[in-house]
Amino acid sequence: MDTITKSSHISYRFKEDVEILENEDTIIATSPCNQLKIAHLSPALRHVLMMLSERACSVQGMNEALITAHEESMLATFYRYLSLLIRCQMVYVYAGREDEQIPLATLIPISPSFQHRWADIQANQSYRMSRFAYVRRDEEGLQYVESPLSHARLRLDCSVAASVLYQLGTAVTPVELAQTLPGEDVDNVISVLTLLVMGNFVFPTTREGRLGEDDDERYMQWDFHDLLFHSRSRMGRHNNMLGGTYRFLHRIPPQPAVKPMSWPVTTPLPRPDMDRLAEVDPGLTAVMEARTSIRDHGERPMTVAQLGEFFYRVARIKEVSHGGNMYDVTKRPYPNGGSCYEIEFYLTIDRCEGLTPGFYWYDPLNHGLSFIQGPNKDTEKLLSDASRGGFDHPQVVITLAARFQRVSWKYESIAYALILKNVGVIYATMYLVATAMDLAPCALGAGDSDLFTKLSGSDYLTETSVGEFLLGSKRVQTP
Ligand SMILES: Cc1cc2nc3c(=O)[nH]c(=O)nc-3n(C[C@H](O)[C@H](O)[C@H](O)COP(=O)(O)O)c2cc1C
Repeated sequence: MDTITKSSHISYRFKEDVEILENEDTIIATSPCNQLKIAHLSPALRHVLMMLSERACSVQGMNEALITAHEESMLATFYRYLSLLIRCQMVYVYAGREDEQIPLATLIPISPSFQHRWADIQANQSYRMSRFAYVRRDEEGLQYVESPLSHARLRLDCSVAASVLYQLGTAVTPVELAQTLPGEDVDNVISVLTLLVMGNFVFPTTREGRLGEDDDERYMQWDFHDLLFHSRSRMGRHNNMLGGTYRFLHRIPPQPAVKPMSWPVTTPLPRPDMDRLAEVDPGLTAVMEARTSIRDHGERPMTVAQLGEFFYRVARIKEVSHGGNMYDVTKRPYPNGGSCYEIEFYLTIDRCEGLTPGFYWYDPLNHGLSFIQGPNKDTEKLLSDASRGGFDHPQVVITLAARFQRVSWKYESIAYALILKNVGVIYATMYLVATAMDLAPCALGAGDSDLFTKLSGSDYLTETSVGEFLLGSKRVQTP
């Protein structure tokens, strides 16, 4: 097969923020987060590496410089050093002629696991964009191709690079690709394709136009958004800030530890006698062993006293502390990342002895329920969504809604992942308390967040539902 990538159209250069110092036979490269010392370099190797700090040098140019200095035997060593510098995120790779002012596209490594491999584009081979690759714009207005399968991002520096990517939505050979872009220089088009392949955004296809990922069971079972969310909310294949960075400190005030009351308490809930419960409750082992999901509820509904006991044991505020940690926090019965306690509890009551049916908010500070609205087609939809699987309406659906900015004010990259983990913690707490109380609990995997905002009147971006839980009395078993 003909290899058609032109070595004159792929170039390398140190990033703008990398400082290079030459000291005898050693080069020291320093970036804001890395330092690399390469010693015992021949003068020609040093010269080529120093060139990369001044301008973009093509593969052809770098090879010629080493060959002219009679150091062709050092080519492999040179590319080993280059790969090392790329892995340290100190060197960019460019598509286009090296003497052009602006490259067509720039490959930017974003993780130490980036594998620098030369991509030989073959004339008769078809290529296609991965299902996991996407284009996004950053805050400076630059556009990037990214993918959870990649350890780099590709900056689109010219519209031709975006056109090449667009054409790769279907499987095309380099010749077909060039034909769809008649005004463009063929070598330029191929250089963009080369960088897309080097970055794992585009792959060779089979004769039928299929990618390896299309038929690989591991990839087939990943949704695009799940793999992206996973890769960006864990450390590894990106260099985004991650963790408790407090990026909005002094810019935006944190959301309050306790949700400001939007609705007055209409039903103060009974409080259980905790000393008595500590004596009569079944032990942890008994509760853990008895816990099971029960979707079918009893004829006689649970009571408002049971609802009061359940919420007191699961979700009440035990203590409010001001200011200590840059933001106010509370103490509640279940653990929570950063003590943000961003989850609010809403109840859709179909049947509960002592309570009017309707939609309520649980006030965790005052341990009471606030009536928001009576039964209507939206509460009916919420109840029927929750009873899919053929069961009657549940007695109570508890909707867990996150005050998102309470977490994202402090945490970067992981805020939503943290919220979902917190939902899991609450589910487990609810299951155990409901089991200890001999009630019927069942977590749900999905609900309608738009329906929730309609019922609560909240803004989708500010407070949205992230979990649902069924609760009711158990059906009395007849012998
Ligand atoms: C996060 C989560 C989501 C769940 N989603 C649903 C659901 O949507 N519908 C349902 O009937 N059960 C749901 N369940 C209950 C599981 O089906 C149940 O826990 C599982 O079958 C094990 O049974 P067990 O709870 O009785 O031990 C969910 C449980 C969890 C923890």
